[in-house]
Amino acid sequence: MTFSSDWLKLREPADLRARNRILVAHVAAAFAGKVPINVVDLGAGAGATVKALAPHLPEDARWRLVDNDAALLSLASWTLPQERLEARCLDLDRALEQAIEAPADLVTCSALLDLVSESWLERLIGELGARGVPFYAALTYDGSTTLTPGDPLDEPITEALNQHQHRDKGFGPALGPDAALLVPEKLKAAGFSVEVGRSDWLIDDKEPELANALLTGWVDAVAETGLIAPPDLGAWRKARLDAVAAGELTLRVGHIDLFARPN
Ligand SMILES: C[S@@+](CC[C@H](N)C(=O)[O-])C[C@H]1O[C@@H](n2cnc3c(N)ncnc32)[C@H](O)[C@@H]1O
Repeated sequence: MTFSSDWLKLREPADLRARNRILVAHVAAAFAGKVPINVVDLGAGAGATVKALAPHLPEDARWRLVDNDAALLSLASWTLPQERLEARCLDLDRALEQAIEAPADLVTCSALLDLVSESWLERLIGELGARGVPFYAALTYDGSTTLTPGDPLDEPITEALNQHQHRDKGFGPALGPDAALLVPEKLKAAGFSVEVGRSDWLIDDKEPELANALLTGWVDAVAETGLIAPPDLGAWRKARLDAVAAGELTLRVGHIDLFARPN
């Protein structure tokens, strides 16, 4: 699955606002005064996590950014001075172990865990546990959406969307919104102390472009499921986009962040 740089750029301000500040502070405290530290960011995209987290970590922390999209990685490679950054173009499904090989003092990701399969998640947790490496994962979709004002079709459309989220995104059948509960549960079972905090997207009339892109993406995904009658879905789409244009729609999209430390 590919992610356009335009989409990642559009969502970045909402992501940045949404990130749970308490968890960022706890990650920062865990590494304060430690030098040098090596961070590995999985599915780095255009560098959203390095931009959000690097200012809270020791100034000379070195980052390895891993993604299978070379064009996104080249955008990400401008986020830090070159001597502190290594970009690795790798398929994380095939080469996860290579991506997080030492040195790695902290593994991070954002907007990734809902795309992966349960077996890949277990592989990741196995590697983190074997190496005793802390893990910060931001912006995992939890399956909840709230549109205001509401519409009777919102709920069935979200259910269809969440079903679509389980389709293979390159790692096998995706966890989709189940990731939000399953990831902390599996990390705890593997002996990690896990803190979870909310990081919901709140999108109002100031970001119509993001709201339109999000709603259009949802409608396209829901149409593929065949679960909503096309005329109903079309009418919902029109009414929602009209409401965005009139500055009358707000959206909340549920996400969680987590910070897990080996005991
Ligand atoms: C939703 S984007 C998130 C990007 C970035 N972390 C952010 O928060 O903006 C998911 C990222 O995972 C990457 N990705 C998806 N499948 C991958 C795979 N099999 N191997 C490596 N990266 C992958 C995509 O290229 C994309 O950059």
